[in-house]
Amino acid sequence: RILILDFGSQYTQLIARRVREIGVYCEIHPWDMEAEAIRAFAPKGIILAGGPESVTAEGSPRAPELVFELGVPVLGICYGMQTMATQLGGRVEGSDVREFGYACVDLVGKSAFLDGIEDAVADDGVLTLDVWMSHGDKVIALPEGFKVIASTPSCAIAAMADENRRFYGVQFHPEVTHTKQGLRILSRFLLEICACEALWTPAHIVEDAIARVRAQVGDAKVLLGLSGGVDSSVVAALLHKAIGDQLTCVFVDNGLLRLHEGDQVMAMFAENMGVKVIRANAQDKFLSRLLGVTDPEAKRKIIGRTFIEVFDEEATKLEGIKFLAQGTIYPDVIESAATKNGKAHVIKSHHNVGGLPEDMAFELVEPLRELFKDEVRKIGLELGLPYDMVYRHPFPGPGLGVRILAEVRKEYADILRHADHIFIEELRKADLYHKTSQAFAVFLPIKSVGVVGDARRYEWVIALRAVETIDFMTARWAHLPYEFLEKVSNRIINEISGVSRVTYDISSKPPATIEWE
Ligand code: XMP
Repeated sequence: RILILDFGSQYTQLIARRVREIGVYCEIHPWDMEAEAIRAFAPKGIILAGGPESVTAEGSPRAPELVFELGVPVLGICYGMQTMATQLGGRVEGSDVREFGYACVDLVGKSAFLDGIEDAVADDGVLTLDVWMSHGDKVIALPEGFKVIASTPSCAIAAMADENRRFYGVQFHPEVTHTKQGLRILSRFLLEICACEALWTPAHIVEDAIARVRAQVGDAKVLLGLSGGVDSSVVAALLHKAIGDQLTCVFVDNGLLRLHEGDQVMAMFAENMGVKVIRANAQDKFLSRLLGVTDPEAKRKIIGRTFIEVFDEEATKLEGIKFLAQGTIYPDVIESAATKNGKAHVIKSHHNVGGLPEDMAFELVEPLRELFKDEVRKIGLELGLPYDMVYRHPFPGPGLGVRILAEVRKEYADILRHADHIFIEELRKADLYHKTSQAFAVFLPIKSVGVVGDARRYEWVIALRAVETIDFMTARWAHLPYEFLEKVSNRIINEISGVSRVTYDISSKPPATIEWE
């Protein structure tokens, strides 16, 4: 396994995902990881990742000295390369300007690291590599034992190597897809230089997770809140395979789900797979508590609290439950760990069961804790979950509750559910579903005029929202074809009584958010 030390760059998770994609298990830890913990981790190689600071600034982070003393290969990327150079006796020159973008580096000199990996041969016979560069600061003097292995006109030391100690540094980012040979470069480091084996495959992950769950749980009973989302569904499938009937799932129908969603969850898990699922039909409870509430945050709180209450009621009815399973995934773990370290990361509030009463005293089972979302999806497929389920768009915990821009009423929820269903169905038919990252309808509490026959009728408005995004932090509105939008609009207005107008949201994030509330 590989240890990745994080200096605070947003690229660190991407590095870890690439390493796993290559089939090598890795973990991200903060740059100031204790020496003892590093020894216990026993890495076969270490990657020093990027970071926002300048190594020339006083008090900027440094890698633990142990990293260079363990005798394992080390790869420094960007800041990682600069701190490596500084700590081993080289020099880094600071700069206020940061440059990002494509660069074509010349591969100068031979190295076990980059030999045979090139994109082109320049006129003068020099091999070149197209990379995504980010530099402001740069290494201007090599530490002893190092040589230059790549350079550009503006960055003479774009990559460096100490073949004896197997220390390598690159100023560019091999983890981003803009660096075309990036995966080959990382593979070279991991599989050849560190001599790791590519064993981290979906089948292996499942096998490993099953063994660990069995070891942790023994013959005790486990409870899982199944929402129908990807993470909890994969946990259900995994635990069912690992411990069969020891697993009981509780599915809470809050009345704010997508059309037929509750029935689909029951069909897939209870009927097809034979998972024990208790369906709590709590629609009335949720809707009665939401009566008269229009403030979005208040709605979120009510929905969250009521969920926990209903879940608890079901849980207390069950006898002898010892464990509570959760669909926590690796990015959640890294984010909370990073904040503990005092680093400025945004804390995400999870919709996972967070407020169970202490006296229930469950132990946690979190079989996805070490997995990235793409790995969770892959093992979902491996476990036999349908592709359409595993690659479904995200759906917020409060569901349609935050897509009704008014007090939540059953009448509104029914209209919205229907409109949403038409939109999604047409996206799938037109093969556009997977070209958008998230798509849904929003209920606007506005009466707009329409004509039916000779009469003027004042009816509700539905807004359609579809976005393209990678990380959901920024998003572009999806440029769906006009003919497609026309068809969806016609269907919604014709098939749903009470709607006379459909609009399409053309705002991007930022400044607009993806959801309307
Ligand atoms: P925004 O609207 O913040 O959405 O741009 C970003 C992503 O988060 C989802 N989202 C939520 N998910 N509970 C959730 O579980 C919530 O309260 C919530 N609000 C937004 C949203 O659907 C999008 O995927």
